[in-house]
Parts: sequence; structure tokens; C-alpha cells
Amino acid sequence: MRANLMLLLAPLAVSAAPAGNEPRQAATSIDTLMKAKGKLYFGTCTDQGRLNAGKNAAIIDANFGQVTPENSMKWESLQNQKGTYTWSQADFLVNWATTHNKTIRGHTFIWHSQLAGWVSNIRDKAVLTSTIQSHITTVMTRYKGKIRGYDIVNEMFNEDGSLRNSVFSNVLGEDFVSIGFKAARAADPDAVLYINDYNLDSPTATKLTKGMVDHVKKWIAAGTPIDGIGTQGHITSGGGANLAKAISALAGAGVKEVAVTELDIQGNNAGDYATITKGCLSEPKCVGITVWGVRDNDSWRPSGNPLLFDSSYAPKAAYTSIVNALQ
Ligand SMILES: *[C@@H]1O[C@H](CO)[C@@H](O)[C@H](O)[C@H]1NC(C)=O
Ligand SMILES: *[C@@H]1O[C@H](CO)[C@@H](O)[C@H](O)[C@H]1NC(C)=O
Repeated sequence: MRANLMLLLAPLAVSAAPAGNEPRQAATSIDTLMKAKGKLYFGTCTDQGRLNAGKNAAIIDANFGQVTPENSMKWESLQNQKGTYTWSQADFLVNWATTHNKTIRGHTFIWHSQLAGWVSNIRDKAVLTSTIQSHITTVMTRYKGKIRGYDIVNEMFNEDGSLRNSVFSNVLGEDFVSIGFKAARAADPDAVLYINDYNLDSPTATKLTKGMVDHVKKWIAAGTPIDGIGTQGHITSGGGANLAKAISALAGAGVKEVAVTELDIQGNNAGDYATITKGCLSEPKCVGITVWGVRDNDSWRPSGNPLLFDSSYAPKAAYTSIVNALQ
């Protein structure tokens, strides 16, 4: 398999293959191939602990062009106590990515989960508004010019397209969306601002149509600076075709770009990875795909071997399948 692949890829492999005998690395970089198709990146998530363990840093450096902090930029990680910021892990990620010339997707500000308890307890509109503004402004000012874009809002919709119960929706209704996006635009006018969610995996899912697409259209028309929609893509085997179609359905919401932001596929998934990659290629607004981790057994849902590298850091059939889809 690998020998055949090397022959097929011979012209590309000359520049993309790692030098010397590093047998664990893939034959060619899916990030390089993705960029050759006019996209911005093929990425993954990581953080300091992973980057310092095993072959993660070498694999990411060789195969991926974009990193998302897995945990280090979530609210509880950055500002777990009011007014006290903890930067070390996020700084590590940003410094590593900068040194290795990787694009960064910042993740995430307004999210009901992994939130700090003191924020969850706010009941006053003005206090919550200024808390959101101050957190976003502080983080985006620190990393201005280093982080390409951010998930400003994450997982705000229920399956029926209504707003999820959270401190944000309970105290501010849907105004928290414009508050967050406007603060972000002001803090770093060059950053690309995303709304991100899961179970947007079919073009006809109510969460996609009545939830994400209808609301984003309405908010953009009202002047909320939403640039992009992220579909997380935590799916199971067989879901690739619907997710590929959903990419274009999301692009129809009037945003400038869309991205697959947290892809992992449980089960026999090589064909699904190829289908989703082609789905991004065929949608002009799709800028890239991010998988949620490197090794199967480091995944947040390790059953069903959802990622592109096995527990020995060897590239799997799913990786080869993406390479073939990008030829
Ligand atoms: C960094 O990556 C960009 C593409 O994302 C590329 O154009 C540029 O040449 C790279 N720079 C270095 C120093 O490798
Ligand atoms: C992942 O697999 C490797 C190699 O089999 C093993 O050493 C490691 O402990 C595993 N990690 C987890 C989190 O299961």
C-alpha cells in the first residue's frame, strides 16, 4: 500500500516526504495537498501536554497546517477566577504554532460548557455584557495578529433550532451573539469570526436549517459581524455524504467562509474522510478541515478509532484516503 502510494505520489513526494528514515510519518502532507487545491489548511487540535508527548509535535509539524487549542482557550482555562488570567498553556500553543508556521483557530469564548463558575452565576444583564466584552477583548488583544480567527460562539442551538438554555441566553436572550461578535470585531478587526456547532451533519437537519442558517442570515442582516460558520463534524461511519452536503448548505447562510472544525468519525471511516474532503473542495467558501486530535486513543471518544493516526502514530487508511481525494 505504502509503496504504491509513493509511486503514485512521486512528484509531490519529492518535496513533501520527510527526509531520511522516519517510517512513522505519512508519505505526504494532507495540509500541503489541501493548500495545492486552493484551501487554507488541513488542521488538528492540540495543546501543551500533547505537544510534549510522544510523536505528536513531529506528526503535526509534518502533516497539518493549522492548530486549534483543544482546551487551553476555553473560559475555565483562561479566566477561571474573575479578573485572573492564566496564560501559560494558551501561550505555549500560540508560540509553538507561530514558530512552526501553523495557522491558529482560537476556540472558544461564549460556550455553556467548560465555563467558569463565576460567569455561570451572573444574573445581571449589564454585568454579563461587560464580562463577555472584557474577556473577548483581553484575549484577542493579547493574540492580535497571531490568531487567524476564533469561534466566538459555540454550541448555542438545540436540535430543534431553538436557543440552548445557558447563562448567556437566560440572561441576555439572543443579544449575547451580537455582543460577543461586536466586541471581537473591535478587539481585532482582522480576525475571522465564527459561530460553531455540532450535529450540523445533514443539509436537512432542523438544527442546521431553522437553527444555524436562519439565525445567521437574520443576524448578519442586522449587522452582527459573523464571518464564518464552523461545523464540528463529530460523526459515525456512513455520515460522510450528508456532512459533505451540509458544508454547502451552511455556506448558503451568507457568511464569507465555512470550515469543518472538529472532525472525527467513529467506525470504518476511510471513505467518509474522502467524501468530506471532496465536499470541502467542491464548496468555494470552505477554507479547510480540522480533525479533533492526532491519535485514535488520545481522542475524546476513542471507541471506533475516529482519527487519522493509530496508537503507534502510524497513518491509517483514512489518511491515505484523504491523500487520494486530494490528488
Ligand atoms: C508559512 O506558511 C505559508 C502558508 O500557510 C507559506 O506561504 C509560507 O511560505 C510559510 N513560511 C515559511 C517560513 O515556511
Ligand atoms: C495509547 O496507545 C499507546 C500505545 O499502544 C499506549 O502506550 C498509551 O498508553 C495509550 N494511551 C491511552 C490514553 O490509552
